[in-house]
Amino acid sequence: MSSKPHSHAQWSSRLAFTLAAVGSSVGLGNIWKFPYMTGESGGGAFVLVYLICILLIGLPILMSEWLLGRLGQKNPISTMSHISARLKRSPAWVLIGVAGVLGAYLILSFYSVIGGWALAFIADAASGSFETLTSDTAGSLFGGLLGDPTTLLAWHSAFMLMVILVVAGGVAGGLERAAKILMPLLAVMLIVLVGYAATTDGFADAAAWLLTPDFSKLDKDGVLAAMGHAFFTLSLGMGIMMAYGSYLSDDVNIGRTALVVVVLDTVIALLAGLAIFPVVFSNGLDAAAGPGLIFQTLPLAFGRMPGGEVFGVVFFVLLVFAAWTSGISLLEPIVEWLEEKTPMSRVGSAWVAGIATWLLGIATILSFNLWSDVAPLGMFAKFEGMTIFDLLDYATSKLMLPLTGLATIVFVGWFMGRDEVRSQLNMSDSAFSLWSFVARYIAPIGVVVVFASSL
Ligand code: TRP
Repeated sequence: MSSKPHSHAQWSSRLAFTLAAVGSSVGLGNIWKFPYMTGESGGGAFVLVYLICILLIGLPILMSEWLLGRLGQKNPISTMSHISARLKRSPAWVLIGVAGVLGAYLILSFYSVIGGWALAFIADAASGSFETLTSDTAGSLFGGLLGDPTTLLAWHSAFMLMVILVVAGGVAGGLERAAKILMPLLAVMLIVLVGYAATTDGFADAAAWLLTPDFSKLDKDGVLAAMGHAFFTLSLGMGIMMAYGSYLSDDVNIGRTALVVVVLDTVIALLAGLAIFPVVFSNGLDAAAGPGLIFQTLPLAFGRMPGGEVFGVVFFVLLVFAAWTSGISLLEPIVEWLEEKTPMSRVGSAWVAGIATWLLGIATILSFNLWSDVAPLGMFAKFEGMTIFDLLDYATSKLMLPLTGLATIVFVGWFMGRDEVRSQLNMSDSAFSLWSFVARYIAPIGVVVVFASSL
């Protein structure tokens, strides 16, 4: 992307666009969040609901965001206000864009802290600390890190700095080129890990646990979590994909490209699950350990496999890259908006947005140690015991992303002309009928039902 994103720049090719979209969607959500949520929600049933949500809700919303962006050719807020004005719809639709910018801010604040964990583990892997781990001490490295706010702050700052520098300098092009090599490498590393996991005696059990749905283990909150994660992992509900769509040229087939992104994103998440749970099962670790899950299990696996020191470093470097490309996509909408609404330059906007995000990130850091007992909404039974980090995660993944996504698909399905949508999607009659049935009924009703049942 050039340093002036509001001009009508376009992706150099369909491949470049696909990679950027994959770069945004594949991140900590796939490798960190998906496994720990699956572990907390009991396995196969969660995975099944997640897959259904990806296909019936995530995919059509991804396509909707891209087609809106391509029509609007602007940042998400301006795109929504232009399109709704042209169609003589309520100006309130612009709230979709506003919610997106706010959501990006909240998510990046904790995303950067977790990106910092990944950085810290590169250092641990390189120093050989994985080799001495046993089933009993598997959590010790992570526990030590969590209990140390100063170290957490240092790594959070480092990660945020990496994001700010790229967004300020507009060197995303170079990063895109790097991602072209690094993303496939990440997939290869995951396959190596799955290969190791297959040699442990927990593999068959773990695979069965992941792939056989047992609905008695999934409560309503688990269903909401699965749906929210479908939004999170595809970077939906925040105008990011809309912003990417604004650089999209008319000859790109939105449906086919969306399918590629969705499949890659899902395969990476499932591979991460297959790499992690066998290690959990064969070592008697706790699948429901929460956000620390991969940081407690993968070091154990690396510590035991031949060449694990090298693999460990490579893996965490790649994880940082995946998180970095996603982190950039989270800062971008805030910076774009500041740059347009204030007299600040792009560089100034990047620093202001980055520092504001970094500051909020400190609340997440403290949630894991000094403030671990602070539950700001603890007076409500539903939020009892939830730290600031838990609340940020809840507010974004379970509320903001699904609601904004719902508004987006309702707008495209019900408030835009069929012909315009049809010509954007460029599908055969039967494919378009199917698409509009899913977009008008299945996806919105799905979101509403999941919501209503969990609240
Ligand atoms: N999808 C990314 C991941 O899975 C995170 C992310 C990037 C994101 N941009 C987003 C999540 C926008 C929600 C909205 O790690």
